[in-house]
Order: sequence, then C-alpha cells, then structure tokens
Amino acid sequence: MKKNNPSEAFIRQDGNELIFDNLKSPKVVSEFVEIINSSLNSYNKHLILNFKGVTAAFPNVCVPITGIIENVSSRGINFEFYYLSEYLKKLSIKQPLQVQDNRDLAKNASLDKVWRFDSADDIYMLINSFVDELSRIIVCEKGVLEGFEWSINEVLDNVLQHSGKNFGYVMGQVHPTTKHFVFCVYDTGQGIYNSLLSSIHKPQNPAEALKLAVKEGVTRDKKIGQGNGLWGLHQIVSENTGKLSIISGSACYNLINHKSTVFGNIPQLAYDNGCIVDFQIDYSKEISISKALGGYEPVNFKIESLEDNYGNITIELHSKESGVGTRKSGEKIRNELINVYKQSNKIITLDFENINIISSSFADELIGKLVTEFGFYGFNNIFKLRNMNANVQSIVQRSVAQRMMESFNGGDSKKDVPGDK
Ligand SMILES: Nc1ncnc2c1ncn2[C@@H]1O[C@H](COP(=O)(O)OP(=O)(O)O)[C@@H](O)[C@H]1O
Ligand SMILES: [Mg+2]
Repeated sequence: MKKNNPSEAFIRQDGNELIFDNLKSPKVVSEFVEIINSSLNSYNKHLILNFKGVTAAFPNVCVPITGIIENVSSRGINFEFYYLSEYLKKLSIKQPLQVQDNRDLAKNASLDKVWRFDSADDIYMLINSFVDELSRIIVCEKGVLEGFEWSINEVLDNVLQHSGKNFGYVMGQVHPTTKHFVFCVYDTGQGIYNSLLSSIHKPQNPAEALKLAVKEGVTRDKKIGQGNGLWGLHQIVSENTGKLSIISGSACYNLINHKSTVFGNIPQLAYDNGCIVDFQIDYSKEISISKALGGYEPVNFKIESLEDNYGNITIELHSKESGVGTRKSGEKIRNELINVYKQSNKIITLDFENINIISSSFADELIGKLVTEFGFYGFNNIFKLRNMNANVQSIVQRSVAQRMMESFNGGDSKKDVPGDK
C-alpha cells in the first residue's frame, strides 16, 4: 500500500485521531480509504474524526466519506466525531439521512445534505426535491434543469440497476459565485468493471471499463439497459463545458473542458469496489438536450404538469407554501417563474385568487424585480396578472413604481440578478 508523505497528507494522523483540514479534494477520500483498510486489519477499531480545520465541504468528498463511515461501521469500526460545524451537522456527515424518515426535509431543504436512497420511490422524491429547490434558489439557463433532471435520474437508477446493492448516497450543492451546481452519487456495490465483466464487452481492466461505460450503446445487458445513461451524462456535461468524474474500482475517468483522461491506481476499499459519479453543471450556460442526446428530447413533465388543456401555464399563488408575506418567498417564486419561462417559452398567468393581502417587500421582490428584469414591455408579454383585489393592486402598483423609478434613476437593480445572492 502506498504511504502518504505526512507533510503532504490531507488527513493528519495522531494515534487513532484523524485530523481533516478540508473536505474538498477527492484525495481526502483516497487517504481515508487507505486508513480504513489498515484499521480493518488492526486490533484498534476506534477512530476519532476531527473536523476542526474544515472550512469547505464538497459533495465529491462528503458523499463517499459518509457512505464509507456507514458501511464500515457495520464491519466493526466505530467512529467518534470532534468539532462538527453547524454546516457539517446539517449535512449529516455522521450518518446519511434516510429519505422516508425525513420526507419534509427532503421536500424543503434537500441540498447540502448527504441522502441515502433505498428505492425507486426515494429516488423519485429526491429528484423532484432537487429540481424544485434549484429552481427556487437560482435562475438556470434554458435546458439546464431538464438536462440535470435527466442526468441525475440515470445515475441514481444505475445504482439500483447495476451496483448489486439496492441503496446508494447522493448530495447536491450550489456554488453561486461561479454559477455552478455539483452533484455526487456513491454506491458501495460491485463497480463498473465487475458489472461489465460478464457482458460481451469484457473490459481488460477497470480503466478500460470506464472508457467503455461512457460510450453510446454500452450496457452490461441489452435486455436491461440501452447504454444511454453515462453516455448521455457525458454528452450533457461536455456540451455545457462542465466537469464529470467517475471513480470505480481502482480507476478514475475525468472530463474537463471537453477533454477526458483516465488513470488507475486509486486506493479502494478492501471489500468492495463501489462507484462514484461526480458532475458539475454551469447553470449560466444553455444546454440543448436534443443536441447532446443526438436528437432525443425528453418530455418535460414538470412543465407539462403546469399546463392546462390549452397549453397555458397558470401559477396559483395561494398554493405556494412559502406564502406571500416575505421577501425571501418573493425571491423564490420569482426564480421559479423565470425558470418556468426559460424552459417553456410560454405566457405565464399569475393567479392571485384567494389572496387577500401581500406584503410590499413580497410584491417588490416578485413583481417589481420581474418588471425591471424583463422591462415593462417584456413583462407584459410574458406575465398575466389575474384576480387581484383592490388592496393587492395598490400594493403592487406602489412597489413596481418605486422599483422602476430606482432603475430609471440609474439604480443598480440590473445587478440584482435573481438568485445571485
Ligand atoms: N453504479 C454502477 N455500478 C456498477 N456498474 C455500473 C454502475 N453504473 C453504470 N454501470 C455499468 O455501466 C454500464 C453503462 O451504464 P449506462 O450508460 O447507464 O447504460 P445502461 O444503464 O442502459 O446499461 C451499465 O450497463 C453497467 O454495466
Ligand atoms: Mg443506466
């Protein structure tokens, strides 16, 4: 086993205490795996994980670490945790959150958490929550949310279909300053090499298996799959100039800036190969799914479900759980509306039925900022306002007037791009 030079190590070891300085480089996972392998062979099966120095935690590290902790806990290693920040506590690094036990959390705050999924139902619920949450907190260019939804579905389904285990782990995170979101999926199953070994493709080694798996039409069994999933993800990420990393067994496949590299010799757990799929999407860059997937355009069920029989889209404000009283809620609904518009290109009716009063800050955040974002003419062409009572009308009137005045006077409302905070 390769030993780390202690001065370069990402995890410093002091007896059975492991001191983490960051949770953002995949090398942390490799070092953790090596330490776990030696603990499995040693008498001392107690490890202290000290997170005192951790200032950043990314999914490609948190997801595998949490999954490994859960799995080796059942093999006799026990863990103690020092200095878990509020962020790491919420992220649930000690033990992944089970979807069925945390349905409300999954629905309302699914990002920045490590989830364990155990069924197709869990996957369905998580994906809906991820897409809804993304569309509330950031404005995504056309095709991004659909491309993401298609991709994450494929990757999570692969775990159930091919890993030989019926569970896996996933976490998503938004990086607003660079306008990216990142998702990482991990399973502790047989790995891509083993799953392809008995197929007609017969890869020579784990690295070759990864190169094969991202090719169009490569599947371990044509009766079960079509070989579109990893190929499609690769295409979508490549078109978006995002990043993709697949680590399975001892091999790693990286795609960055349209260029791919493959290398081996990654430390792996003694008892299984597993698979990590980690991808990053630039949400300020349009994705053409039909271009990425060679003409195939998946149906956008989310948009379809918003349409009536005539194909018109109506959003009923009274059904919004975040309410009509706060600036935060106005911002979420505004982001959602812009995302729906970017995906559908259709007129959107905002229905105020059963709304007696709204706060001025909500009106400003929702309507005022939409008017400045799209311009008065653009707003009128895209949005129709219905069923506003006189009180609501005057509140909206006032906030829109103020907002327009501010932008007219050279205010910096243009900088106030939705979701940028
Ligand atoms: N999590 C995984 N564990 C093991 N093997 C996997 C995993 N994900 C993908 N694979 C392997 O990669 C192949 C290609 O996957 P994919 O492109 O999604 O096609 P399909 O699922 O239609 O077979 C699968 O057939 C399987 O052999
Ligand atoms: Mg698949």
